[in-house]
Amino acid sequence: MRALLVDRSAPAGLRLGQAPDPEPAPNQALIRVTATSLNYGEVRFMLQEAPDGAVLGWDAAGVVERAAADGSGPAAGTPVVTLGVAGAWAELRAVDTDWIGTVPAGADPGAVSTVPVAGASALRALHRVGPILGRRILVTGATGGAGRYAVRLARLGGAHVIASTGDPDKHGDSLRAAGAHEVVAGPQAVGEPVDGVVDMVGGQQLVDAYGLLAQGGTLVAVGHSAHQGENFPFGALFADNGRHDRSIVTFSLPECSGLASDLTWLAHRVAAGELEPQISWRGGWGGAAEAVDALLQRRLHGKAILDIA
Ligand SMILES: NC(=O)c1ccc[n+]([C@@H]2O[C@H](COP(=O)([O-])OP(=O)(O)OC[C@H]3O[C@@H](n4cnc5c(N)ncnc54)[C@H](OP(=O)(O)O)[C@@H]3O)[C@@H](O)[C@H]2O)c1
Repeated sequence: MRALLVDRSAPAGLRLGQAPDPEPAPNQALIRVTATSLNYGEVRFMLQEAPDGAVLGWDAAGVVERAAADGSGPAAGTPVVTLGVAGAWAELRAVDTDWIGTVPAGADPGAVSTVPVAGASALRALHRVGPILGRRILVTGATGGAGRYAVRLARLGGAHVIASTGDPDKHGDSLRAAGAHEVVAGPQAVGEPVDGVVDMVGGQQLVDAYGLLAQGGTLVAVGHSAHQGENFPFGALFADNGRHDRSIVTFSLPECSGLASDLTWLAHRVAAGELEPQISWRGGWGGAAEAVDALLQRRLHGKAILDIA
């Protein structure tokens, strides 16, 4: 099969080449991939550390080529969206049926391919916050792939949504269109306490966002894009003055169980136009280096899609 292979001598460390077809385990379906979306984490960390010849990629949309031998998961010919720890940047991938969602016929595979990491992380992080109907929810890194999903899902869930970006002038309109009631330049610009935070940035933004939590509030530390440590000033963890019982929780999507139904639900919302993935770069997989560079240099706000012919 053709695949994007890690190659340190190539632009962005990737080249199109040939790789062996994957051999599915009994609980895995073989998927013919039609589109993949890139995520910051895989290009920032996985791509830098993988050996030459590796086939990476977390998100892929496509069609079931061969159903799982153990009878689980969708039948051959079903349009699907898939999550895996590797293997999405290829014509064929083998995927655990626990990580396969089904997709309505005729849906755009590119749009649907944005669902697994960005959409499912946003959904599960909001679940971890707890009830959000009528509550104030802050999303940091809101212009990113996962952040935009969090903004839209929090709005669909009935929250008052505050979206934080480094550049509100540039991104305010699109974030309001995604569902934000307020767009701010960082947590320090938020006026009133919040009940929950979905934090994509970490570092000082996490510290500032924690300081905004109302009593009983939860901050879910999803991302660490700032690459900074978190230094809390003395007193930040005091529980006086109505600040009792505030939590910071860590998050890891691959550790979440029951993702197949979430992927299916999210894919149907995207196909129906109720969730807008904000595609900010799209092209053939020959253009992968350009998309990777844009993502790493923070020029890309939203999702990058590679169509795999
Ligand atoms: N724990 C998990 O399982 C999990 C799952 C999914 C994602 N993540 C992590 O969550 C974060 C968001 O993922 P994503 O795919 O949405 O990433 P992304 O598309 O790159 O978005 C990150 C956003 O963070 C903001 N940001 C603020 N400071 C930044 C900095 N110093 N460098 C880069 N961006 C900065 C940017 O918005 P502005 O420029 O508008 O400020 C950017 O749009 C990443 O760190 C990712 O690794 C973790």
